[in-house]
Amino acid sequence: MRVLSGIQPSGRLHIGNFFGATRQHLQFQGEHDCFYFIADYHALTSNPSPTDVARHSLDVAMDYIALGLDTEKTVFWRQSDVPEVTEFAWLLSCITPMGLLQRCTSYKDKVAQGISPNHGLFAYPVLQAADILIYKSNIVPVGADQKQHIEVTRDIAIRFNNAYGEILTVPAEHIIESVAVVPGTDGRKMSKSYGNTIEIFEPKEDIRKKIMRIVTDSTPVEQPKDPDSCNVFALLRLVASPEELAEWENRYRNGGMGYSEAKKRLAELMIDYFEPFRQKRAELENNIDYVREVLANGAARAKVVACQTLNEAKRAVGLGA
Ligand code: ADP
Ligand code: TRP
Repeated sequence: MRVLSGIQPSGRLHIGNFFGATRQHLQFQGEHDCFYFIADYHALTSNPSPTDVARHSLDVAMDYIALGLDTEKTVFWRQSDVPEVTEFAWLLSCITPMGLLQRCTSYKDKVAQGISPNHGLFAYPVLQAADILIYKSNIVPVGADQKQHIEVTRDIAIRFNNAYGEILTVPAEHIIESVAVVPGTDGRKMSKSYGNTIEIFEPKEDIRKKIMRIVTDSTPVEQPKDPDSCNVFALLRLVASPEELAEWENRYRNGGMGYSEAKKRLAELMIDYFEPFRQKRAELENNIDYVREVLANGAARAKVVACQTLNEAKRAVGLGA
């Protein structure tokens, strides 16, 4: 089975990205033929600065490789290094009804937030469908926010096949069952756009400081506390062993424990959790040529599949015959 997913290059990965997506991407490597790419064409829809596009793509690549991406087995590349996908997206655009895109909630949400939309943002789901379909993907693991884009992809694939013959693989949807939304330091969903993130590989001292500043309620030390509504406890769930978590749960409920004690332990556990990968991340930072080589190699492998599907699709619609 081919598993494919795209990762937006929005900067260094944070803990929410890891537990909500990256960990599952890496787990698939044992069982399936994995294709993962850095969605730099998609990133352009928000008009980032050119230096950010380049730097963020490399940052995400280094984070994935350091965290255990298997550079031999998994095909890992930068979307724009296989530009055939944009040509394929055009073929798909021409059979995609406007209404299908007008109904996309992620587009509507952005417009409602006051963003002045460009055509790329409107056409975003078609490029995403092209990513998925050009590589004949069977499974597309994504967060719940992308569910509708997978439905759009399936719809486009079925339309194409109905019009031109059974050429495209209709992918199954696979919504990643996140451990629940990972809260950020202010208690809202951890997200780049809220500035409340803890990056996986930021300096340990910064991780400690951010964890000590996590928002908690003002229950006095001696009183019982509710673990289920506590941001610190939500993060402990991700990194503490079941036995230790049960202990903390008791301590919360019994009273006599201050949040700062839980935060100190959380910082230790969080730093230890990613410690095995930290050294590798530092090595990659000093060997960016190696990272570029991994991506170039991935692009070459991805291109073989992309060209094959593109040629089949072009012939089917009557181009180049
Ligand atoms: P951000 O909100 O920081 O811009 P993205 O939207 O780029 O993050 O998220 C990339 C992936 O990480 C998505 O699959 C998303 O579901 C997952 N993810 C991001 N933040 C969280 C979070 N706080 N909890 C769980 N998963 C998350
Ligand atoms: N839209 C996805 C996101 O924001 C990124 C993405 C682009 C993607 N192309 C894809 C995900 C293809 C899965 C498959 O997270």
